[in-house]
Amino acid sequence: MTPVLSMRGVRKSFSGVAVLKGVDFALERGEVHALLGGNGAGKSTLMKILEGVYTLDEGTIEIDGEPVALSTPQDARRHGIAMIFQEFSLIPTLTVAQNIYLTRERRAAGLLDDAADVKRAAALLADIGVDIDPRRPVRRLSTAGWQLVEIAKALSQDARILIMDEPTASLAHSEVDALFRIIERLKQQGMTIVYITHRLEEVMAVADRVTVLRDGERVGTQPTSELDMDALIALIVGRAVERGAAEPGRSIDRSGTPLLSVRGLNVGDRVRDVDLDLHAGEVLGLAGLMGSGRSELARAIFGIDKATSGTIAVRGEDVRIRRPADAIANGIVLVPEDRRTQGLVLAHSVRDNLTLTMLRRLSRHGLLDEGALQGVTESEVDRLHIKTGSLRAPVRRLSGGNQQKVVLSKWLATKPDVLILDEPTAGVDIATKTEIAGLVRELAAAGKGVIVISSELAELLAMADRVLVLRDGAVERTLDRSELGSEPELHRLVQAPAGVA
Ligand SMILES: Nc1ncnc2c1ncn2[C@@H]1O[C@H](COP(=O)(O)OP(=O)(O)OP(=O)(O)O)[C@@H](O)[C@H]1O
Ligand SMILES: [Mg+2]
Repeated sequence: MTPVLSMRGVRKSFSGVAVLKGVDFALERGEVHALLGGNGAGKSTLMKILEGVYTLDEGTIEIDGEPVALSTPQDARRHGIAMIFQEFSLIPTLTVAQNIYLTRERRAAGLLDDAADVKRAAALLADIGVDIDPRRPVRRLSTAGWQLVEIAKALSQDARILIMDEPTASLAHSEVDALFRIIERLKQQGMTIVYITHRLEEVMAVADRVTVLRDGERVGTQPTSELDMDALIALIVGRAVERGAAEPGRSIDRSGTPLLSVRGLNVGDRVRDVDLDLHAGEVLGLAGLMGSGRSELARAIFGIDKATSGTIAVRGEDVRIRRPADAIANGIVLVPEDRRTQGLVLAHSVRDNLTLTMLRRLSRHGLLDEGALQGVTESEVDRLHIKTGSLRAPVRRLSGGNQQKVVLSKWLATKPDVLILDEPTAGVDIATKTEIAGLVRELAAAGKGVIVISSELAELLAMADRVLVLRDGAVERTLDRSELGSEPELHRLVQAPAGVA
């Protein structure tokens, strides 16, 4: 059978640095093909070539056995290729229908025929089994909603090949299930799907075949049925990796004054009466569904969202936190979930982003200590293996996962006492996930307190000494290390309301 798509010997360099070194990649009609590899391996670049965003330096592309040139996004669209980017492309103030048919609106007597677009958007959404009102402004939708509208938009362009670049990086478990059902449906309709992710259990669940890239080279293409998790990891990393086995229980001394105490914290109705104690040396996990108030709780402690009532104490002393600067002054930092928009100045260099939070500490008599700046930057880049051509390269040029690592390093470098990490491993590769988990344990061993929010429950189990399960803004359960069972058990507790589980 002729593949729907075949790329051969694809090479691409940026400023003389080879990013793709002769990659072959082929898709069979109606398959879900996972494209895998570490941060900076070249996945997004390969797909941006298909989408006509980048032009290849060398190599050929065939669609249905015919050579094609994909020099612009229009070319790609004409050939039925659509991509859902790591960054969303929708316009928040427009409605779902307007976004789907932007620049291709129906007209009646020269005027925009909104009603016609709403009607065909409704049919399209129904077709993929999505229940969203096409008249709703996109800004009112959840992240998952945005994702689904992006998919509908791609389908409205008669796509035959749909590329999803980390579609689930910010989705909760139940939403991932919904996405998988849609993927299954699209597949049955003959759609071919490229699926990029770092969540390997998703690969096992959804992909028919995998292709793995490592440092710009293809290391293998295999049916998923011939692989198990360990084989997959070895293929990606190039060696066997110890996976986050739960550590034996460490005993935390909870007799003293906690590092951080929160009492009766409310933020409107999104956080309700939360009490929480974090001791030195402790890793506290926050589990819950999307919308359960995990991020809102973190944002309130850090002073981004205003608490409507409640108290926060650091080492037993009440503190007033009205803005992030107050939190930082009290040794509390938050590494936000949406790092690309909240944590980075994309046009600035890796070095400037890393040292932004330390300028005062690294200055002497108002002058920057250049040597110290350089030293700190180098050691941070080393510690998390941030892959960048130079410390002066703009962060925008780094791969998605490496951008994430820059934000994490930037806050670690401030040497806080209390560290709140919101989805710290979203978008980072399997090797780095293990490193980040190790780092969290190290920070705790050094006497810090760490609060970790994660949708990946296996990760919470590997890191946390205690887990709070939140539902509807309130703490529903507190589970001690000894009560923390297996991942499916925790998953069940997170999904089902108390009394039902
Ligand atoms: N426009 C650009 N200019 C310079 N270098 C770039 C550019 N785009 C990508 N790169 C480099 O190419 C390499 C591959 O990046 P790419 O985004 O394809 O990685 P990726 O496999 O998608 O990684 P991730 O899993 O982190 O998203 C990286 O080292 C990145 O810094
Ligand atoms: Mg990428």
